[in-house]
Amino acid sequence: MLMRALGDHAATLLIIAVSLLIRLGVGLHSYSGAGLPPRYGDYEAQRHWMEVTVHLPIQDWYKNTTDNNLDYWGLDYPPISAYQSWLYGKAIQHAEPEAIALLISRGYETSSSKTTMRWSVVISDILVYIPAVLACRRAFLKDATAEQRAWMLFAALLQPAAVLIDHGHFQYNGISLGFAAGAAAAVATGKEMLGSALFCLSLNHKQMSMYYAPAFFAHLLGRCLQRPTFLSKVGAVARLGFVVCATFACVWGPFLVPPSRAVGVLSRLAPLRRGLFEDYVANFWCATSPLIKWKQLFTQQELVRLCAGATLLTLLPAVVQQIRSPSEKGLLLCMASSAFSFFLFSYQVHEKSILLALLPVTLLAPELPALAAWLPAVAAFSVYPLLKKDGLSLAYVALLLLWAAFTLPAQANRTAVTGRTWMHGLTSCGLPLIFRTSVGLALGVHAAAAVLEPPKRLPYIFDALITALSFLHFAAAALYVQILMWRQGHEKSQ
Ligand SMILES: *[C@@H]1O[C@H](CO)[C@@H](O)[C@H](O)[C@H]1NC(C)=O
Repeated sequence: MLMRALGDHAATLLIIAVSLLIRLGVGLHSYSGAGLPPRYGDYEAQRHWMEVTVHLPIQDWYKNTTDNNLDYWGLDYPPISAYQSWLYGKAIQHAEPEAIALLISRGYETSSSKTTMRWSVVISDILVYIPAVLACRRAFLKDATAEQRAWMLFAALLQPAAVLIDHGHFQYNGISLGFAAGAAAAVATGKEMLGSALFCLSLNHKQMSMYYAPAFFAHLLGRCLQRPTFLSKVGAVARLGFVVCATFACVWGPFLVPPSRAVGVLSRLAPLRRGLFEDYVANFWCATSPLIKWKQLFTQQELVRLCAGATLLTLLPAVVQQIRSPSEKGLLLCMASSAFSFFLFSYQVHEKSILLALLPVTLLAPELPALAAWLPAVAAFSVYPLLKKDGLSLAYVALLLLWAAFTLPAQANRTAVTGRTWMHGLTSCGLPLIFRTSVGLALGVHAAAAVLEPPKRLPYIFDALITALSFLHFAAAALYVQILMWRQGHEKSQ
């Protein structure tokens, strides 16, 4: 109703303005590791990378030297993250040079430098994430109503987990997610080379974007195979291969000679030095670890193989589907499916990685109204132990209330929405009950954690409950996305 009165452009501007205000509001709160020497947290890591990249020659960025002790938040993201640190570092150096003074600025926290740091994340969203979401809206919602277009924008820009992690906890996921969304939009509008290049940028900002690689690979390969002749198929694959190599070469240029330097950087990016999982992450290994002691039953190498096997096996159906019949929406579903496989089963998963499964679901919000309303809330719930540690409980409650205020009435009304589409049958039966149950359980855990003392022998029982409950939701969502993919592919071929 509101949307109809406003008109499309005004609604778009309003949602973007509100989403920026909320980002700035969340930014007023605390961040990861605030006031916690000696290592602080993710905020300090980002600040430290600005310090290192601004002051040291580029070939030393990833190298352990006297000025760059890698044991203290050594750079472990690919080069575009480092270039971004350099760029924002230059800006901060201009405004407040002490904030990134070499070696002596560790743990530097003033309110003015915090403001500058916060703005750098907001600007990243303005420059990358928001334009990418708008491009996706043009590409994927060609014949949607104004209401649906507004809902998609709202879901992608205001889903609580992404806002809380980037603008509260402090990270720049909006950049890598934005590049991936831009890549999907480009591929969907037939600009496959641009899409491939953008996806490489995403991959070179955060290696986690690898979660999407099977989806892009399968979809693009599927499209190449649809070409009429053998030669044109090979030509199409070769062109994309060339774009990928050229993009990587540009990004990695300063690190390629001598080759040992590139190997040194690569070894910083591989997480195999660490354990099966860290903290409380709602994936298969962590959720089942109270029952099955994975870390004791298997050696690290066996675990790595087990994880790789389980991940590949579970993402295979979606990949096969996209190779056989690539479609625009299928690409987004495959991105979600593949991200879920990696999140649930791969090695060394971070709780924040759920953002990767979340993005394509919010981009498909008009097609998956129930999932797009429910999954973001569960994702925020799943990272609550982290947010609580960061002092972001208040921001968490505020953003979830806002989310519920806008999505729950729509859920209640949705049965009135007409149109029997392929997802309608699946979503309209029974989900409200599941909805009520899952909201009730989540509130129950929060209430119990608020009023009960955890037993002495199980101090982390509530975090473990959050993990287990979130895992069940994510596993169900992963299965649901998988089923949708095949149904959609089936209906398309009829
Ligand atoms: C880096 O060098 C410091 C000494 O300068 C040393 O203590 C540390 O263990 C080294 N770290 C790595 C990751 O090589």
